[in-house]
Amino acid sequence: MQQIYQKIWELAKPYYEKGRPMDIVHIEWFMEIATMVCDKEKLDDTILLPLVILHDVGYSRVKDVAEKNYYQLDIRRFHMDEGKKITEEILRAVAYPEEKIKIIADYVGVHDNWAFGEVDRFTNNPILGTFKDLDYLWIYTGKGSKAIQENMRKSDREMLKFLKSEPSPIYGKKPFSNETTKQLHKELLTERELELGNGSVDSS
Ligand SMILES: [Fe+2]
Ligand SMILES: [Fe+2]
Repeated sequence: MQQIYQKIWELAKPYYEKGRPMDIVHIEWFMEIATMVCDKEKLDDTILLPLVILHDVGYSRVKDVAEKNYYQLDIRRFHMDEGKKITEEILRAVAYPEEKIKIIADYVGVHDNWAFGEVDRFTNNPILGTFKDLDYLWIYTGKGSKAIQENMRKSDREMLKFLKSEPSPIYGKKPFSNETTKQLHKELLTERELELGNGSVDSS
């Protein structure tokens, strides 16, 4: 990973230490996968990587975050608003180009807006679209699935059913932003089927 991203990560980490239990693992996975997808899909990593590294820093300011349902709309709104402020502070501290700080902070401030019905921004913008795909795919990874399963108190069967029924938070039009993330979803779901129940959920 480029040195500038390493620097941003070092400044972001103390926030994540105060965030949700799996946040550090979430971001470490995300940085790696986003670097790969940027390469394959020829996306601007100078925007996508800082967005990936910083997008959830705002959870550090949610009181008793570990006990909360992270999907609650007021918590979603709060972590984006606070995250936007922290993002500006961190990127200024590493002297990131000012015009890029504006774009990244703006994206951090809306990164979960699909939950509020705003879909077009994600389908029209390859960076935000790819970001959304990968952020969501986290729950299809071994560690991400486990973390969400615990937070939502689901059984293995329920979790598998949940994963199968929601391939993307954006239904209907363009659930995935590109072929790479679409393929990744398929591979991860196959892994979880093997782990959580050999796909037996269909016959029950
Ligand atoms: Fe988020
Ligand atoms: Fe996230």
